[in-house]
Amino acid sequence: MRLRRVLVVLLAAVLVLCGLCAGAGVWVWSGAVLSTADEVDFVRPLAVPPLAPSRLDAQGRRVFELTARAGTHDFGHGQTPTWGYGGSYLGPTLRAARGEQVVVDVANTLGEATTLHWHGMHLPAAMDGGPYQGIEPGTTWSPTWRIDQPAATLWYHPHPHGRTAQHVYRGLAGMFLVDDPATDVAALPHEYGVDDFPVIVQDKKFDGDGGLDDAESFLSGTGLLGDTVAVNGTVGPYLEVSTRRVRLRLLNASNARSYDFGFTDGRTFALVGSDGGLLPQRVDLARVMLSPGERAEIVVTVAPGERAVLRSYPQALGTSLVDRFTGGADTLDILQLRVSGDAAARPEVPQRLVDVPRLDPAGAAQRRTFKLGERSINGKGMAATRVDAAPVLGTTEVWQVVNNDGTPHNFHVHDVQFQVASVGGQAPPPWLAGWKDTVYLPPNRPYELVMRFTDYADPNTAYMFHCHLLSHEDSGMMGQFVVLPPATTPGAGSG
Ligand code: C2O
Ligand code: CU
Ligand code: CU
Repeated sequence: MRLRRVLVVLLAAVLVLCGLCAGAGVWVWSGAVLSTADEVDFVRPLAVPPLAPSRLDAQGRRVFELTARAGTHDFGHGQTPTWGYGGSYLGPTLRAARGEQVVVDVANTLGEATTLHWHGMHLPAAMDGGPYQGIEPGTTWSPTWRIDQPAATLWYHPHPHGRTAQHVYRGLAGMFLVDDPATDVAALPHEYGVDDFPVIVQDKKFDGDGGLDDAESFLSGTGLLGDTVAVNGTVGPYLEVSTRRVRLRLLNASNARSYDFGFTDGRTFALVGSDGGLLPQRVDLARVMLSPGERAEIVVTVAPGERAVLRSYPQALGTSLVDRFTGGADTLDILQLRVSGDAAARPEVPQRLVDVPRLDPAGAAQRRTFKLGERSINGKGMAATRVDAAPVLGTTEVWQVVNNDGTPHNFHVHDVQFQVASVGGQAPPPWLAGWKDTVYLPPNRPYELVMRFTDYADPNTAYMFHCHLLSHEDSGMMGQFVVLPPATTPGAGSG
């Protein structure tokens, strides 16, 4: 009898525990999906980063100044400690034209070393701002280079090894617009802050004191996923639009989250540009997906007096059941457009945009394979003393990259803009027809990237290639390459 009672009590205890576990399981499972659809109050005017002032020095170089500093910022959680360039969060928009020699004086007034990397820029490795061009506290770094690439929406952010996620999350990032009459289209909206706007999208979360919470989810290896979206640092943003067509330069400057942008009424928009410049043709889409680091330029047609809401929709990251722990199942309201009743006309976006000369994969001097998985590339973590690839100046290469571990990754290459030659053996979709420097990699689908190494050889200074999910990059999912002068034997001069 006694034994039986003990057994009954034990069984009851087991059942209660199982119930708790199942309950917790359901809670974790459903709690992993976030939706702010129709729940965001769009009550703050969208901050538009100012254009950075510049001066011409005695040698005719365009000189900018950026000062990394600490401050506080209002995300609707009181005064949140943040970092920024000049101001307290993010930085001004740098803008320069092809052919100009630029200098950026980057001063560091933070309490620790940082670096500043020009994401998407074609420049010498020593100016690239990678992990080796550290800017110690109290010092100024002044990289200089000649802008020589098509008109594009690039950006800048720190790249200190192991610390990039924190530095970007605290607010160190900004846009860099390259102008080039030869590869721009006059019919596109192009007045900054009037019909042409930066849209820097980041997700944040806050601790009880209103500070930025940078804890990563223990449920997925994706990294930090926030529950609050800030656009150009503004939470709950609306944008007053005074023209019937508006160009949005979307930048995913989030640590780990990917977005699938679209409008809540399902309207289509014209995708006109990708990371490295305008596309050969406009692509009419209802959604555009951006993983961390990627940009898209879209032109949206709006009606006088209307309100339109940009939202991020659940997306197929390719990671199936895990998608809900990667942010892939989330719905997030991003930005409201408020169109004035007397919005001015703007021209129709032309069908054909710019010539994008195709790089021929058949002409590749070298093919390389990079397998991303387990926070490493080809099984190796980032090592300062190892050079993983040494392309020769003036040659074209094909890099086949593949995500091998079933969690979200993307692939970014410094110095060059590449073209996607194939996706899983097929021709790429039209939205990948232009220049890219970062591309999302769904699991187990090989992407062939064609790139050409021009202008700058330096056997002693490396560029990086890496996953742009910042905690992956920080934990070593990164490799290095040097561009060798033509006469050098590959492999020599590295170390
Ligand atoms: Cu935007 Cu190496 O990074
Ligand atoms: Cu970069
Ligand atoms: Cu990754």
